[in-house]
Amino acid sequence: MTVRHFLTLKDLSKAELQYVLERGIELKKRHQNGEVYEPLKNKSLAMIFEKSSTRTRISFEVGMTQLGGHAIFLSPRDTQLGRGEPIEDTARVISSMVDAIMVRTFEHNIIEKMAENASVPVINALTDDYHPCQLLADMQTFHEYRGSIAGKTVAWIGDGYNMCQSYINAAAQYDFNLRIACPEGFDPRQDLIDQHADRVQIIRDSKAAAADADLIVTDVWASMGQEEEQRLRQRAFADYQVTEEIMACAKPDALFMHCLPAHRGEEVSAGVIDGPQSVVWDEAENRLHAQKALLEFLINGKSD
Ligand code: CP
Ligand code: NVA
Repeated sequence: MTVRHFLTLKDLSKAELQYVLERGIELKKRHQNGEVYEPLKNKSLAMIFEKSSTRTRISFEVGMTQLGGHAIFLSPRDTQLGRGEPIEDTARVISSMVDAIMVRTFEHNIIEKMAENASVPVINALTDDYHPCQLLADMQTFHEYRGSIAGKTVAWIGDGYNMCQSYINAAAQYDFNLRIACPEGFDPRQDLIDQHADRVQIIRDSKAAAADADLIVTDVWASMGQEEEQRLRQRAFADYQVTEEIMACAKPDALFMHCLPAHRGEEVSAGVIDGPQSVVWDEAENRLHAQKALLEFLINGKSD
């Protein structure tokens, strides 16, 4: 079997993403019914975290345990990566002992370099450019609440950074329209916009972006690595909080999502995130189920 990586949503075909989504729903049901299912018995996942994490670490680690395997948490502080061992060498060595590698890092090319030199699947658990695992959970969550997202309208309100850029890829892979409301200077990469111009639009005004949308999504104003820009960003994004007023512009049954962690009173009001349209807790839990489906698919291939 050729090694499959998951660095962006584009690494899986539309049909494979659909398979993973349905498999995530199936594995969730089986787990909730108390079924023990261990297709990854004796398999190991290396988890390299160069940035903090709550959901990603727990969901991958617990996911591997539930699938009968084992996960190893690795931080640069305690490994030779932090002392300058080349990524290429690290990838080669780790690959010879584990069955998959999960990486959360800064520049996207770090994970690309890792994948080029790894002989086992490499999974992107967030880079400065993308967060595709979060999208697996978001798409599963939308599907559970509202059925297929194909043909629907999603409004992204906030920073055009890694989560937003993964939503652009998702628009193409899951077939929905995406309106992005972000202040000037915080746009997603222009090449991504150009490549997806048929279904992705930048609209500066939050209300116009939210009009009749089926799903409203946001993310923090200052991401990991941008902490010193917090004050500047608070000013730049002041008109981009997802409030009850913004939600009222969307369809009456629109959902609200946020990958978390959230800052109430900044990118989202407490009333929205803790309100009836918010599905953020299911979205967070679905990281576990969606990634179990991904791990099984990348390591064992499709189950029959
Ligand atoms: N949403 C998400 O990736 O959360 P963590 O940073 O806690 O992993
Ligand atoms: N954009 C955020 C997502 C956190 C899960 C960050 O990169 O910090």
